[in-house]
Amino acid sequence: MINDLFRKKPVKDLLKKNGDLQLKKTLGAFDLILLGVGAIVGTGIFILPGTVAANHSGPAIILSFIVAAIVCALVAMCFSEFSTAVPVTGGAYTYGYIVYGELIAWLIGWVLLLEYGLAVAAVATGWSSYLISLLAGFHIIIPNAISGPFDPANGTYINVPAIAIVLGVAYLLTRGIQESAKFNKLMVFIKISVILLFIGVGVFYVKPVNWHPFMPFGVGGVMSGAALVFFAYLGFDAVSAAAEEVKNPQRNMPIGIIGSLLICTLLYIVVSLVLTGIVPYTSLDVSDPVSYAMEIIQQDWVAGIISLGAITGMTTVILVMAFGGTRLLYALSRDGLLPKSMSQLHKKYKTPVKNTWMFAVVVAFFAGFIPLAKLTELVNMGTLLAFTAVSIGIIYLRKDKNIPSGGFKVPFFPTLPIISFLLCLFLITQLSIHTWIACGIWLVIGLVVYFSYGKKHSLMNKNKG
Ligand code: ALA
Repeated sequence: MINDLFRKKPVKDLLKKNGDLQLKKTLGAFDLILLGVGAIVGTGIFILPGTVAANHSGPAIILSFIVAAIVCALVAMCFSEFSTAVPVTGGAYTYGYIVYGELIAWLIGWVLLLEYGLAVAAVATGWSSYLISLLAGFHIIIPNAISGPFDPANGTYINVPAIAIVLGVAYLLTRGIQESAKFNKLMVFIKISVILLFIGVGVFYVKPVNWHPFMPFGVGGVMSGAALVFFAYLGFDAVSAAAEEVKNPQRNMPIGIIGSLLICTLLYIVVSLVLTGIVPYTSLDVSDPVSYAMEIIQQDWVAGIISLGAITGMTTVILVMAFGGTRLLYALSRDGLLPKSMSQLHKKYKTPVKNTWMFAVVVAFFAGFIPLAKLTELVNMGTLLAFTAVSIGIIYLRKDKNIPSGGFKVPFFPTLPIISFLLCLFLITQLSIHTWIACGIWLVIGLVVYFSYGKKHSLMNKNKG
């Protein structure tokens, strides 16, 4: 019985074509980079740098971004190796199934649902506040009662724009990944242009004196800042969730994952340098630091364009994170750990329509009624846990001789996967105790779901009999 908990998925089953359940292969390397940048650049650059620079890192926020980028780059290599060895949908969850067995795989899937779900909800909330302030600039006022989470003391009851964007994105996703990828391309283009505009205008207003003191909160501040700005890089793992829909994954997956991470790191570093160079870090604790900096230097038109870009940027984050969430539900259901209806594909669009709407409705509820600012930490926690599992998983992956080799390999094996694991653990220790408790509760619920449903209905169970 105990053995059941560690039953592993044979790789040949995973790679076998699965009739009706096969997703269409349409994505190339460039699509993947765009999907990655689409998923990654969002709240992390338009909202986070302000509060993190003001309260944790100071101008040394660029170091926080670099530390977080190093962790992500190491994990990204592990993801690339997995995704070329086993190019199937489900990301870290599926990898867990191959190397650790069912129970751990389920728990990885479970914390990733938390990551994708809450990240979509949190970013939708940020999207909503940027939209509200942009519209206010045109004297269009959204009534207070429907513009924020349930908080009667402040007169807000429901965040209608946040709900609308989640449902809108769900609709796009049901129409097919290619349609979504086309829409994503346009959005990524706008978002990058806006960021370059900020850099191009802002660089002339930088006063190097603002970079002193460079590290006002010491190394500790840089590290806790790194655990927070880690959020800014989330999304690159969502790229690996698309593996089954990628042409020539052995070549295209590593380019997609590592390429998008590189581009984002560069953008974050330059934007934070310019930002802390224009505005003293002590004044950056605002909800829209990037456009705020433009207002300070009296470039209001640029500020307006940046708000528009921020809205666009966050839309793509919502799109790709929601994509990751629905494909994860699909994979969990295909394996029998969740009800079958979650993996039914639409006849014409070949997308999991039912699960997309279910995911969207639950997430829209969170986005509409619950203030999620504090929960970004919880998102980071779930992700870091999954990343520790993926890092160590590489060691098990290499041991398994049934898995086809020849794809991308993490260099300096096993040192890099171990360093990657330790760095993820280190960032976890930088998160608050409340986050640990909340994540613990989520894991317990996950165990209950597994033992009352998944264990019995698992496909592996059926195969056994
Ligand atoms: N990386 C994503 C963002 O910053 C979650 O919005």
